[in-house]
Amino acid sequence: MPRQRTFDLVIAANRLPVDRVVTPDGRSEWHRSPGGLVTAMDSVMRGREGAWVGWAGEAGEAPAPFEESGMWLHPVPLSEEELTTFYEGFSNDTLWPIYHDVIVPAHFHREWWQDYERVNERFAEAVCKVAAKGAKVWIHDYQLQLVPAMVRALRPDLRIGWFNHIPFPPVELFAQLPWRSRIIDGLLGADYLGFQRATDAQNFVRAARQLDGRATRGDTVTTQDADGTDRVVRASAVPISIDYVGLEELAKSDAVQARAAEIRTSLGDPDIVLLGIDRLDYTKGIRHRLKAYEELLAQDTFRPPEVTFVQVATPSRERVGAYKDLRSEVEATVGRINGTYSALGSPAVHYLHQSYPRDEMAALFQVADVMLVTPLRDGMNLVAKEYVTCRHDLGGALVLSEFTGAWHELQQAFVCNPHDIEGLKQTMLRAISTDPKDKRRLMRASRRRVAEHDVQRWADRFLTNLEMAPERPPAKGA
Ligand code: F6P
Repeated sequence: MPRQRTFDLVIAANRLPVDRVVTPDGRSEWHRSPGGLVTAMDSVMRGREGAWVGWAGEAGEAPAPFEESGMWLHPVPLSEEELTTFYEGFSNDTLWPIYHDVIVPAHFHREWWQDYERVNERFAEAVCKVAAKGAKVWIHDYQLQLVPAMVRALRPDLRIGWFNHIPFPPVELFAQLPWRSRIIDGLLGADYLGFQRATDAQNFVRAARQLDGRATRGDTVTTQDADGTDRVVRASAVPISIDYVGLEELAKSDAVQARAAEIRTSLGDPDIVLLGIDRLDYTKGIRHRLKAYEELLAQDTFRPPEVTFVQVATPSRERVGAYKDLRSEVEATVGRINGTYSALGSPAVHYLHQSYPRDEMAALFQVADVMLVTPLRDGMNLVAKEYVTCRHDLGGALVLSEFTGAWHELQQAFVCNPHDIEGLKQTMLRAISTDPKDKRRLMRASRRRVAEHDVQRWADRFLTNLEMAPERPPAKGA
């Protein structure tokens, strides 16, 4: 039997950073997946020896562990049933709505919870298998909230951190969860808990105090280990970012510049290109954005071919009811807008239900005179940061919802409340008509913020916080 390889840094996330692709000649290859979490962690793992524990993206038996771009990938299996109950069910139809302000109703099913527990246990076991003695374990996101305590029970020697990529809900919403105490206990297995915004961290600390009777002090919660000793867990904000240098370099490349020019021409060289790039998710405010645009067209504020709106809506969680409903609604709205306002050869909306590689996104960003990032709720929204990073020409304008984590950092954007359709319309018009000189100034400030707070800094801050997190409460009288 080959000896089990172990590592000093172990990442655990629901998905592995690769997708299996079958080539035309029938060979199967692993390709880097395009998601934000993967891109972020990719640059973090560069130059560090580490392992990544996650699901390989296909139901059934997991492939054997393998090495890919200097990282050890340890697949965790999910059965077809668990895909429905753990992933689509509990993660994305129970937790996701609760953690995003209940924009759609959350569904509670005891069988979903049981499978959530079972799958979290499987992840915890896999983590313990690949973690060297005293290793750092970095667990990601809402799908794995029980893993911290499960890992601690198996391996008290490990240093355990968890980071939430999505919001953590106010206590009144979190309280709805029948399993709220179990989730708090699960998270308190960590040494350090990282969140996108200070409010998210405070929401967690408040939930631990009010719903679970834990003693809290500032940004810490006291918990008891199995042997009865007190242990302190810190919860604070470390907002995620992007690989600024890498993306800017890509955006400046001749190929991307040429592609941007090609896209603009293929759109009919309009005066104004509006752009939205989102996973097709009800949290992203795509319906509100389309409504505002439709009203502006109806009021004759502008018309194609002078203006066009490109909406990339990446397919996501397509078997979950709320996502199916959203798709039908968005596609009906796009059809209606195009039927009413398009000119021959100049559609009012270019709707693309597809996912694109990074270079195509970078080119699209350069074409966008106005980037519409209007979620109803979003942990961070890396698209906002990617857009300003790609605008090395200082062109364009970012319309940004105040309900994103990104807004807390990019305050020079044109802020909007996406629920306020009238306000959203005015903000879109302001983003179009503001003096280009002023827009360049705003863009420069946003770019500086992202350049100074890039993904590497985020990872360093998280790992330092994990290292420095207090373990024991201060001695009495200290
Ligand atoms: O951060 C939120 C998140 O669920 C990530 O875990 C994931 O990378 C992304 O959104 C896409 O979601 P999914 O893995 O469900 O396609």
